[in-house]
Amino acid sequence: MLRISSLSVYYGAVRALSNISIHIKKGEFVCLIGSNGAGKTSLLNGLMGIVPADAGEVVFDNNDISGLPTKKKVKLGLCLVPEGRRVFPDMDVYENLEMGAYLQSLKTKKRQLEFVFDLFPVLEERSKQLAGMLSGGEQQMLAIGRALMSNPKLLLMDEPSMGLAPIIVKDVYSKLTQLKERGLTIFLVEQNASIALKYADRGYVLENGKIVLQGNTSQLIDDNEIKRAYLGKEYKEKWER
Ligand SMILES: Nc1ncnc2c1ncn2[C@@H]1O[C@H](COP(=O)(O)OP(=O)(O)OP(=O)(O)O)[C@@H](O)[C@H]1O
Ligand SMILES: [Mg+2]
Repeated sequence: MLRISSLSVYYGAVRALSNISIHIKKGEFVCLIGSNGAGKTSLLNGLMGIVPADAGEVVFDNNDISGLPTKKKVKLGLCLVPEGRRVFPDMDVYENLEMGAYLQSLKTKKRQLEFVFDLFPVLEERSKQLAGMLSGGEQQMLAIGRALMSNPKLLLMDEPSMGLAPIIVKDVYSKLTQLKERGLTIFLVEQNASIALKYADRGYVLENGKIVLQGNTSQLIDDNEIKRAYLGKEYKEKWER
């Protein structure tokens, strides 16, 4: 469904990502893990065209989408849930959801709203509440709901676990699993390697702007280097007690 070949992102003379190649098949749930500053956000922003990406090719659903404006990519079925959620705090939940459907027909908007309320009943209950008043977990659900309003084929997510209590993180990921079961393809980037590797099918490891490892998440979880670098605390608890 998506193939990124040799993508690089520069900020002025500074190279944030070099030669990134990633593929995602229809129906897969793929994660990319990496620590602070590894380049995770740059990758998603480069992919969406929010920051310029160089020397790469991005093919989505057999279309070469490299260089297309962000709006066109959304129209084709890519949608990003940004880092930090970025809900519109002074608008209510319903208005936030409507913003996600601004490129869609009235019919699609209605259908997607039903879909979102079915998946997240809390958003229907709170539809008249200001988004800024929601809890962090509810805001994350709203950010996902807003992206779903554009009827995406591939959902891109930037650190859905950020700043949330572990039990809420689990809630968010179980919703992502439900979305996968309903046929959505998901690509997310995370610092929280243990949760991402637990829920995703396949994963990539990004270090200093380069992919250093990839494989099925079941293999990555068992990789000693990953245990040491990304699952440190749990690894210590399990093996070095
Ligand atoms: N707008 C920008 N201008 C200049 N440098 C930037 C910009 N955005 C990011 N960078 C640099 O690019 C590198 C990768 O940053 P990026 O935000 O993509 O990392 P990240 O993996 O998302 O980190 P985090 O886990 O903290 O969100 C960092 O060295 C960062 O300082
Ligand atoms: Mg980031």
